[in-house]
Amino acid sequence: MSDLIIKNVGQFFGKGSAPYRGETADKVDIVEADAVLLEDGAVSAFGDFDDLAEGKRDTEVIDASGRLVTPGFVDCHTHAVFGGSRADEFVMRTRGASYLEIFEAGGGILSSVRATREASEEELYESGRRRLVIMITHGTTTIEVKSGYGLDTETELKQLRVARRLADDLPLDIVPTFIGAHAVPPDYKDERDMYVSLVCEEMIPAITEEDLAEYCDVFCDRGAFTIEETERILKAAVDAGLKIRVHADEFESLGAVPLAVEYGAASVDHLAVIIDDDIETLAESDAVATLLPGTTIYLGSGHFAPARKMLDAGCIVAVASDLNPGSCTAASVRTVLSPAAVNLGMTPAELIHGCTANAAFSLDQADAIGTLEIGKKADLCIWNATDVNDLVYRWADPRVYAVIKEGYVIYRDEISIE
Ligand code: NIG
Ligand code: FE
Repeated sequence: MSDLIIKNVGQFFGKGSAPYRGETADKVDIVEADAVLLEDGAVSAFGDFDDLAEGKRDTEVIDASGRLVTPGFVDCHTHAVFGGSRADEFVMRTRGASYLEIFEAGGGILSSVRATREASEEELYESGRRRLVIMITHGTTTIEVKSGYGLDTETELKQLRVARRLADDLPLDIVPTFIGAHAVPPDYKDERDMYVSLVCEEMIPAITEEDLAEYCDVFCDRGAFTIEETERILKAAVDAGLKIRVHADEFESLGAVPLAVEYGAASVDHLAVIIDDDIETLAESDAVATLLPGTTIYLGSGHFAPARKMLDAGCIVAVASDLNPGSCTAASVRTVLSPAAVNLGMTPAELIHGCTANAAFSLDQADAIGTLEIGKKADLCIWNATDVNDLVYRWADPRVYAVIKEGYVIYRDEISIE
């Protein structure tokens, strides 16, 4: 393993420890040092460059020249493996059709299901690989990836196998999630119970048999799955040893938040229309509220999750890309941070904790990634920014200077700070 020293660091943001909530949610948590030593893929020491470099004449050195260093970004909600494109539906939406109307008319998720079923494993791998490379170049070093564009056992397995291959081949860690309950496939439209049985009795056992997923997710919302159906699936998933995440309250509040908390969900996601009582329930739990502001923007719905209320109540808030072919095609958490700040009323510190420490916590990885602590994985990003305020202030351009994965520089973009 190669060792690396980063020197002349302007700000080391994200000292530890997750989760950041309540009084620490907005904490500008900085390591007081100007250099870091990375050894054997892990963060080994912080300090003065001269001290760290002593006796290490052959160690590679990166001069950060006053730049910001954060933990590598953790994108805890993505649908990064899918077939086809929904550009035609995007244009329909610009002409006034709504996302739900398109979905209810058999397009939306179901259109990606058709394309994903048709795609070969190789095609899914290639398009997924390109998306993951974009993520890396925007500072992301760990992602969650969901299935959900198969809605039959064979294709759900195909998507998760592709995710596994991508994780083996790319310098990016992937946490796989099974979401067979993403939509009811057309052939089960009048036999919804049979589809739920298929998810519980065939898909979940097949997936656990091959150890293809760590989490099970359900889209509990209008047009997707009811509370009763969601509960059946969560029960089967927990019994099979899977951990839980839930898509909740994107369009309508059906009671998915208290149900998810009752089943010990690690994360409850979207929450655009969450009600006040459910905010309290979340605040009293360790379930992470994963907000997806890129989706609200891309759908043009105007329904941003009430992030301020959640933070003030003490919820653990994470922020993710929701990369998917329909409701948000952004592969980069980094580029949604500035619009998230102004639309959610979140500070740069809250947002960066949201896509590092708190996102890692939602993936049950807080002991390995998400903060800059000695012994954790050397997954870091050096930014063309002086501090987190400067980074979030600068909208849309990636501003990545270097991405480091387990101690190796995996991407570099040498633009100087303006
Ligand atoms: O998280 N809401 C459900 N699932 C995705 C959208 C999937 C799609 O439109 O293909 C989401 O936004
Ligand atoms: Fe989603």
